[in-house]
Amino acid sequence: MNYIQEFDEKESVKSVKKAPILAFVSIKGGVGKTTLAIETASSLANHFGKRVLLVDGNFSAPTIGLYLDLTDKDRYDVTLHDALFGVGLHNAIYESHGFDVVPAAQEYKNDIDVYRLEKILNKMRYRYDFIILDSSPNYEEMKPIIAAADKVFVVTTPDEPTLITSLKAAKIARQQQTPVAGIIVNRIRSPKHEMDLDEIEKASGIPVVARIKDHDKIAAATYHKEPMTIHDEGNVISHEIRNFASALCGTPEKPRGFFDRLLPFRDLFKKEEVNREIMRQNMYEEQM
Ligand SMILES: Nc1ncnc2c1ncn2[C@@H]1O[C@H](COP(=O)(O)OP(=O)(O)OP(=O)(O)O)[C@@H](O)[C@H]1O
Ligand SMILES: [Mg+2]
Repeated sequence: MNYIQEFDEKESVKSVKKAPILAFVSIKGGVGKTTLAIETASSLANHFGKRVLLVDGNFSAPTIGLYLDLTDKDRYDVTLHDALFGVGLHNAIYESHGFDVVPAAQEYKNDIDVYRLEKILNKMRYRYDFIILDSSPNYEEMKPIIAAADKVFVVTTPDEPTLITSLKAAKIARQQQTPVAGIIVNRIRSPKHEMDLDEIEKASGIPVVARIKDHDKIAAATYHKEPMTIHDEGNVISHEIRNFASALCGTPEKPRGFFDRLLPFRDLFKKEEVNREIMRQNMYEEQM
């Protein structure tokens, strides 16, 4: 049992707006899809007051429950897999860190109809401002996620092998006519030896909408089983996620601190701000 079951389905708070369904995808494992899905959900909810549903669409190797401490089988007994079997999705929704989460089952059941996802999520669109989908790097598992999404963000690290592999997800999205809203470059470690924004955009033809550093503190947030955007709001990762989330909800970016403005190579950071501004406008117009 969970709190949402107490709602009367018909009487519950419904908005007139339809929540966009946004998916984080990449054919490459370990690039940060789950981390960014969690952080985006957390920022939209905790920084911008949005009602967010985060769904673990990694059917075979789900980790959202592990990252957010939703593993107690007695408390979190109903999962996305059950919902795909026909149990009402509202039974699989649990509150965590200011947003709602649908975890997936740790025991893989491969006889589920994953293409039901689109249908069951559509019913939730009026309850939330945003629905965020995490996905598996597996080609076949990712297809129903892309089918259910209105837009996808491709997650990559800034090296060519990963970018080329990650972009296969963009190809699937194009085949399914799901717009690719942008690339998020994660785990930037050594810019001198990595692809820069222009190279990534040239190779992909997709705008880079966020650039996120590799940061040790992620380990601490994971250890404490909480999003980085809550664990350390002032961290550089939290700041970039917040800027990305601000673009999703049409809010202006928070100005940088005094010391950030003095950073050398500040111009390197400008292009993704411009891309986010375009995304901000698009999101605003679509939600009108
Ligand atoms: N910006 C970052 N800085 C440091 N560590 C990071 C960063 N982003 C992600 N990580 C770490 O990288 C690892 C993989 O991240 P994550 O689980 O989000 O990847 P994924 O793409 O979802 O993987 P999979 O394809 O297996 O689902 C985790 O240990 C995570 O904490
Ligand atoms: Mg993952």
